[in-house]
Amino acid sequence: MKTLLLNDLTDIELQMLNLATSVRENAYSPYSNYKVGAAVLGIDGEIYTGCNVESADFTLTSHAECVAIDSMVKSACYETKLLLVVLESLHSPTFPCGLCRQKISEFTPDNELKIISVNLDSESKIYKIYETNLTELLPNRFTSDNFLNL
Ligand code: THU
Ligand code: ZN
Repeated sequence: MKTLLLNDLTDIELQMLNLATSVRENAYSPYSNYKVGAAVLGIDGEIYTGCNVESADFTLTSHAECVAIDSMVKSACYETKLLLVVLESLHSPTFPCGLCRQKISEFTPDNELKIISVNLDSESKIYKIYETNLTELLPNRFTSDNFLNL
């Protein structure tokens, strides 16, 4: 994991940040009051976004990263090159949860998939930007290689 400055972000990463920040505002999170925005860059060059969607049955909650991936699949794109997530965290570097890590893993053959996490303060101002990759977040990941004769 390393810390980035806004200046370190490429044009496409800045676009992803803007889109994830704005879709985060649409999060439906009346129960947790915690909004998450995500953007994935497909190998088709398109950016797909998602926000979290909660439900009175808490188990039905959709995570922002998963919604972004599903949106990519909806457009017949099945591989992501980069994931960016925007969420609030002042305490420690915060990244997509374990469930999202596994979901992302399905759609990247590359262990080194870049993951950028933009951590906001309580006023939704950028507090820290972190960069990591899938290997760091999900070592020894479970894939279909484990059970399919490919
Ligand atoms: N959440 C996400 O959208 N992504 C994550 O990886 C972590 C958690 C959402 C789910 C729930 O709506 C809220 O954040 C609090 O857990
Ligand atoms: Zn998650």
